[in-house]
Amino acid sequence: MAVQRRAPGQGPRVNSDLPITDLHPTPDDITGDVLRGLSATPKRLPSKYFYDRRGSELFEAITRQPEYYPTRIELALLEARGAQIAAAVGPRAHVVEYGSGSGRKTRLLLDALDDPVAYTPIEISRSALTASADRLDREFGDVEVLPVLADFTCPVPLPAPSRAADHALVFFPGSTLGNFDRAESVRLLAAMRDTMGERGGALVGIDLEKDPAVIEAAYNDAAGVTAAFTLNLLARLNRDIGSDFAPDGFAHRARYLRNEGRIMTTLESLRAQAVTVDGQRFAFAAGEQMHVEQSQKYSDARFDALVREAGLRVVERWNDPLDWFGLRLLRRGEPLAGTPR
Ligand code: AVI
Repeated sequence: MAVQRRAPGQGPRVNSDLPITDLHPTPDDITGDVLRGLSATPKRLPSKYFYDRRGSELFEAITRQPEYYPTRIELALLEARGAQIAAAVGPRAHVVEYGSGSGRKTRLLLDALDDPVAYTPIEISRSALTASADRLDREFGDVEVLPVLADFTCPVPLPAPSRAADHALVFFPGSTLGNFDRAESVRLLAAMRDTMGERGGALVGIDLEKDPAVIEAAYNDAAGVTAAFTLNLLARLNRDIGSDFAPDGFAHRARYLRNEGRIMTTLESLRAQAVTVDGQRFAFAAGEQMHVEQSQKYSDARFDALVREAGLRVVERWNDPLDWFGLRLLRRGEPLAGTPR
């Protein structure tokens, strides 16, 4: 372990005045997105709106369900392969995290790396950004924390640490990439390529194709936490945009589409009903499926083709012993057509 961790006895360094670089991301147009989604066939709602305060708590609870293997395996992988990851990444990295989770994975990565210089979480929500930045700043004395308020799906100019970093390492764990459709994934990876710079890299977590029964169980846990997480989307929209979804009028359904290698989560309308959003009425038939999330599972061939399209290449692969979940180290590959390297 190369990083100075604060000993519990030292007490926390409370520092909510970290310098935030504000790139003024365009605020979400929730009403517009929902109106567009409900006007489409089939109807859809964007999964990014799952994560209000309650949704984030429910997601944390999902990661602790026995059926939901991705988080448990990725944490174990980071722990078991930390030394190899550090050797492949190289010393003095500026670690750039897309989004901010609970911090469990970030801690393992920063602990494993050789002399990481700085840590930049990139988040569109100021409160989530401040919370994660403060938490990491309290724990890692020697790592400069430089939060950026921005939309990470666009290239992000990184703040310069006071001690020069050797390169940037974008960290995108959790297989969150799989929640974007293919075109969005390519755009996001291309933005990552820009953000990481010439000498940089990206460490990306991917959920791998496996026995469909294992995958379906992960999205249909017996305790019903995933169902509560999906249905919370309707409560959140009712609160934030004044829609009138009847939460007991819909049920969570998650099915694995074998040919496409992805989980498709829908909310099934349990009866014929209507929903009003911003004065517009939308009719639902009994049994109608509204799409709310996709979660792509990857083969090596599928993932390699995806990153190649974004001008990246896989340089290292680490899987757990069952090949259920993987971490991939990406670097720039061929230049993108029309993009200077
Ligand atoms: C955040 N993301 C990677 C999760 C997944 O597995 O696709 C979200 C989730 N949805 C239901 N369970 C977990």
